[in-house]
Amino acid sequence: DAMEPSAPSVSLGSVKAQVAALFGEALKRGFPEEAPSPQVAACNNPKFGDYQCNNAMSLFAKVKGKGEFKNPRAVGEAIQKALPESPMVASTSIAGPGFVNLKLSTEWMEQRLLNVLKDGMATWAPLLPYKRVVVDFSSPNIAKEMHVGHLRSTIIGDSIARMIEYTGVDVLRRNHVGDWGTQFGMLIQYLFDEAGGADALTDIEHKIGDLQVFYKASKKRFDEDPDFKERSQQAVVKLQSGDPVHRKAWEKICDISRKEFEAVYQRLDVKLEERGESFYNPHIPAVLKMLDDKGLTTISDGATCIFFPGQKDPLMVRKSDGGYNYASTDMTAMWYRLNEEKADWVIYVTDVGQSNHFKSVFKAAQMAGWIPEESKDKDALPPTPRVDHVGFGLVLGDDGKRFRTRSSEVVRLVDLLDEAKLRCKQQMVERGREEDFGAEETEHAAAAVGYGAVKYADLQQNRLTNYTFSFDRMLELKGNTAVYLLYALARIFAIIRKSGKSIDDLKQTARIELAHEKELQLGLHLLRFSEVVEQAIIELSPNGVCEFLYDLSEKFNEFYAECRVVNSPEESSRLLLCAVTAEVMQQGFKLLGIQPLQRL
Ligand code: ARG
Repeated sequence: DAMEPSAPSVSLGSVKAQVAALFGEALKRGFPEEAPSPQVAACNNPKFGDYQCNNAMSLFAKVKGKGEFKNPRAVGEAIQKALPESPMVASTSIAGPGFVNLKLSTEWMEQRLLNVLKDGMATWAPLLPYKRVVVDFSSPNIAKEMHVGHLRSTIIGDSIARMIEYTGVDVLRRNHVGDWGTQFGMLIQYLFDEAGGADALTDIEHKIGDLQVFYKASKKRFDEDPDFKERSQQAVVKLQSGDPVHRKAWEKICDISRKEFEAVYQRLDVKLEERGESFYNPHIPAVLKMLDDKGLTTISDGATCIFFPGQKDPLMVRKSDGGYNYASTDMTAMWYRLNEEKADWVIYVTDVGQSNHFKSVFKAAQMAGWIPEESKDKDALPPTPRVDHVGFGLVLGDDGKRFRTRSSEVVRLVDLLDEAKLRCKQQMVERGREEDFGAEETEHAAAAVGYGAVKYADLQQNRLTNYTFSFDRMLELKGNTAVYLLYALARIFAIIRKSGKSIDDLKQTARIELAHEKELQLGLHLLRFSEVVEQAIIELSPNGVCEFLYDLSEKFNEFYAECRVVNSPEESSRLLLCAVTAEVMQQGFKLLGIQPLQRL
């Protein structure tokens, strides 16, 4: 039987998607007129099966007039009967009012687990119906501080990009830095005033020193000195009209900021391509003209605005002085990404405080016909091109207030990351690891654990809730932390090492047998990896992957407590199962941006 995916959300990638494709086929065969998209879920109770099809009730409502079916259960039975033959399936049964339960064939599971060792984790990647995705994340503002909010955006955005990259879709990682705001007039003017004259452009790094301190000083003068304020505003006009001296000063200031950002990205191993606000500036007039021509704009108090039905606040796309703002740039960036870069999905990662801004930008794009209206079918993926705002909550300190350092100064992200690493190193030194590993490996491991802990503590949250930053908690050896999970993985590597066997040999000569109950449970959980990633992409939230990894380490522990591995009669099979667990864990870490370690 040739099977085709029957709904846009269904891919052949995950086991769940394959089961859904099977039920999709059954629904097409049994109910050719209605042919609904399959609703498939994992069974809560493994006694009944591994997956269930939930279409019977809603389908019964549609077909009951035809008299052929007495009740939803009869519809369920018809779906069951129409199910194509498949090596995946061990058995099916009907439960309650027509749920069709499906049990996977153990042999098929064993084969799929062995195959991933032979063919690689890429063969388990979910399939997505997109060609190119823009992920706009991190995006700090030049010259202003890069704060913990930007850290969250960096960590969450990177993980989302990693998950989509895993599926093989082209991802453009965009750093939409604020490099074009009015703050530059002030900074440039302050620079010229302080270090004025002809040599204003030489040795700027030295003159500026600490950019955040410099920013504060210039802001102070801006607020206190009306004459300076006036000259700053003229400086913005000069910069934006391309005056070479102002332009040069702007470039230098951006460079200094960039170096600070780079230090954070380098520690976190985050790749980003800078496409700041200034990049889109030349395209703004043409885009605003498009919006004007479509009749979407209104002049209100001299400003150009887009009003929305049933909403009081408009989106202002040109200020009354003719200048452009955040929204002018965002409308233009969206147009550019959809039309020039041919993205069919654009994802914006910022704090929830910007939700309304993005709602308005998305609505304006809909009205302009750039993106389609939302679909009414809740089971289907949104139509393309698709845009999403991924919002997240605040980072709080132990006191429940916005996270700050003791001095109530801003938190420098590099210092924060360095502290995480330092604490890990101390932990390792205390446990005598430095003697075993040597200085270099200890350093490397401390970085992996420290930065990994910061990332994991963030990613494991429901991204919308505020979360409390605590070094003590994120570095705990027990509980749902990166440290615990990295140890769990290192222990699996240790088991394999201890056996003295080569997985590369075993995977060619031996097979996996899921005979013990705990082996079966571990195997089933491993097979769910793909659908967990798929779901995390659909929800644009990596926390499902964290939960999966934590459950996986528990399942592994249960297996290891009851099933002897090394020197047991089942050694080959069990070592292979250990190897699959290690592969899946490593892939999971990779999606979270955490570096796995061979030993810890
Ligand atoms: N620079 C902005 C900020 O710090 C975030 C930019 C997000 N991306 C965008 N396309 N608006 O708040």
